[in-house]
Amino acid sequence: MSKSTAIAHANIALVKYWGKRDHNLNLPAVGSISVTLDGLHSKTTVELAPEASADQFILNGREANEKQAARTSAFIDKIRRMSGSDKRVRVISDNNFPTGAGLASSASGFAALTLAATRAFNLRLAADLLSGLAREGSGSAARSIFGGYVEMEIGTESDGRDAVAKPLFPSEHWPLRLLILITSEAEKKIGSTEGMNLTARTSPYYDTWIHSSLEDLQNMRDAIAARDFQQMGEIAEFSCLKMHGLAMSANPGLIYWNEVTIELIHAVRNLRSQGIPAYFTIDAGPQVKVICQPEDVAVIREKLSQMDGVINILESGLGPKAYIIGEND
Ligand code: PMV
Repeated sequence: MSKSTAIAHANIALVKYWGKRDHNLNLPAVGSISVTLDGLHSKTTVELAPEASADQFILNGREANEKQAARTSAFIDKIRRMSGSDKRVRVISDNNFPTGAGLASSASGFAALTLAATRAFNLRLAADLLSGLAREGSGSAARSIFGGYVEMEIGTESDGRDAVAKPLFPSEHWPLRLLILITSEAEKKIGSTEGMNLTARTSPYYDTWIHSSLEDLQNMRDAIAARDFQQMGEIAEFSCLKMHGLAMSANPGLIYWNEVTIELIHAVRNLRSQGIPAYFTIDAGPQVKVICQPEDVAVIREKLSQMDGVINILESGLGPKAYIIGEND
């Protein structure tokens, strides 16, 4: 194929990844467990451009900036090396969620790019190899290759061959829902890679974080297997707050929240005290993701939408693995 289009969905970690054991290969220092979201996806077309002298990237309708272009070109270089081709590419990628919504799109973006680019260069990789390759683009992208409940393994091999994600359960196993509360549209100042490196270098809690993650992973697997909403939610909040506490303990401390983030943490806990089951999780930014069961979505949405500072609410169920939607020669 010389042109291929793929769709990959965003994911949200219930047990968080923060820290790398190898920077070149982008190997995680801790495992993580996520859910893939059906409501948020990236659609990416990769076309070989034999006449072109440079790669071209159009992201959400705009020419990529220098930093994005350099990162994406370096990633495509890996696929060029694998396929033995030096052809340049034209990449067009769009998210179906609002850009500037302050939501990281690197997971769905790199997963869709991995699938579309490998196919455009005529490589047909098994899902675990796609996941390992996506990981080299962005750690969380390894998980977006799969649908439903997904676990990212840290692996033990030094070449990163076994640092790949694997599906734990399909979406139908337990159709949870997520509300994504946007509290700021500003781009974050410190990206996850920089934040992870600073944390590993300076936080006195880093080793404890690494060791304590094993228990969280086991407890989360058990909670999902048993569809135990309370256990799942409690571990998700624990892992989230532990990750943010760790980031705050870096020097200088990393604070990804704003005042609305904190208001929402309290609001979600208040909902629980009123008997409405809901739990929060937060990534390296100020948006709050609320995990809930389908029957409670309407009331939770109603209550949280009234809070000052909530700019927008996106809603999602659990989604499928990354897939190809079109190919041409
Ligand atoms: O994929 P990255 O390198 O942007 O790291 C993602 C880190 C968190 O979103 C904060 C946690 C996670 O596991 O997704």
